Amino acid sequence: MSENTGDLMEKLVALCKRRGFIFQSSEIYGGINGFWDYGPLGVELKRNIKDAWWRDVVLRRDDMVGLDCSIIMNPKVWEASGHVVNFNDPLVDCKKCKARFRADKVFTVIAAEGENVLLSVGAEADDEEHARLAATNAANSKTRRRLEDHAQKLVWTVFRADKAPQGRSNICPLCGGELTDARKFNMMFKTFVGAMEDSSSVAYLRPETAQGIFANYKNVLDTQRIRPPFGIAQIGKSFRNEINPRNFTFRSREFEQMEIEFFCHPSEADKWYAYWRDERYKWYIDLGLKSDKLRLRPHETDELAHYARACADIEYSFPFGVSELEGVANRTDFDLTQHQKFSGKDMNFFDDETKERYIPYVIEPSGGCDRATLAFLCEAYTEDMAPDEKGVMQARTVMKFHPRLAPVKLAVFPLVKKEGMPEVAAGIHNEAKKAGLASFYDEKGAVGRRYRRQDEAGTPFCVTVDGQTLQDQTVTIRDRDSLKQDRIAAAKVVQYVQDALAK
Ligand code: GAP
Repeated sequence: MSENTGDLMEKLVALCKRRGFIFQSSEIYGGINGFWDYGPLGVELKRNIKDAWWRDVVLRRDDMVGLDCSIIMNPKVWEASGHVVNFNDPLVDCKKCKARFRADKVFTVIAAEGENVLLSVGAEADDEEHARLAATNAANSKTRRRLEDHAQKLVWTVFRADKAPQGRSNICPLCGGELTDARKFNMMFKTFVGAMEDSSSVAYLRPETAQGIFANYKNVLDTQRIRPPFGIAQIGKSFRNEINPRNFTFRSREFEQMEIEFFCHPSEADKWYAYWRDERYKWYIDLGLKSDKLRLRPHETDELAHYARACADIEYSFPFGVSELEGVANRTDFDLTQHQKFSGKDMNFFDDETKERYIPYVIEPSGGCDRATLAFLCEAYTEDMAPDEKGVMQARTVMKFHPRLAPVKLAVFPLVKKEGMPEVAAGIHNEAKKAGLASFYDEKGAVGRRYRRQDEAGTPFCVTVDGQTLQDQTVTIRDRDSLKQDRIAAAKVVQYVQDALAK
């Protein structure tokens, strides 16, 4: 990670805490790794993202319905899905400091010139190239200079902890100690249901919302007037005991997913896969992620899960690297067939027009709500210059959220706390709230400071009630991004904001 990108992440994390977007979970007790809380602004931002998703994939369509399943399900679900046996990460431990790592994320980097080893360190990274970068960044300045001087002549050897060549062990990125061989670690959180704590009462917190949809596929078919092609959508918490939670909320142990399972005839699966892949990619762009930071990456054949026929990741260029926001996969009839086998229930759909009986294929667009929130936060973070009350240009930090996602849509200020201005401003504020708009009333401090606070919160519009308002019932409305101030009738403020949100 270069210094600049590290800086950006640090600034964003600081802003999230300072303004109440995201807090560390149980912070007063020192926190708990991999768990996060959304503060008053964060919860609105995240809810707006979930609402936008629900509106676009359920409410605006005729071929989708929603579902809300329990987090703990019969453990047979996870046997059928393969999670009990296969949901493993490779894990290594440091023999010296006892730190634990995901084996596929720790690398040993060796730079040698003939017999002469200049650098030999462990690094945590997502791939070999980043591991090499992390290792050289971690090198002290003297070693770094020597590496730079000799770079052309050096032989670089980089190997992953679970793919170390015979006889070579890996190096701990924290203390330089030796790492154990990789072993499998099941990522599902276990718990017990009922009073007995024995093997018969073991249950799991769901690691994905998808299986609740498959388990209810028959219920939905039998109770709704719906037939393939159709989809079921669900938003909900999932839990994974990640070995190395990191990059703020990007990889957490408790997170929210937004998943669709779209059921179709096998002969139409390729068509629907391409459809959903493109739809989902476009969704992020429409809500403000710039296309040059978004990437649609089809999986290589050797990356595909054994049951998947095609898969593409929607990736975003975060300050810490390009990483997955959402995966869109053609899961074939794998899940329904497995549940048919394990439950003994018939998962076929009988088409009474063609008289055909078949198990539908499933296209799955599966996104992470926290990752989407983090991407929208990264995208929104902007440092620019804006004039203060005296017209002097000052640096400001502004969160340029799409108005639909902004936690607060409108802030209303009386210019001064007298001459009836607070009453008029409070009237506009209350009217906005009655219309369902998240509005914030602020009468404290210089108006320039109030603007700055709203810029940091990402509020797209600030309305100021001033002396002229009392004469002609007009107010100024300031656009967060262009800083343009329009004068409009006080009575038109709510409509003005609603129009902007509908764009
Ligand atoms: N049902 C398929 C499934 O769960 P996945 O790729 O494992 O697929 C889907 O997860 C999405 O869930 C990811 O693209 C990501 O956005 C989100 N996600 C997965 N693990 C996560 C974690 N530890 N923290 C935050 N989000 C995560």
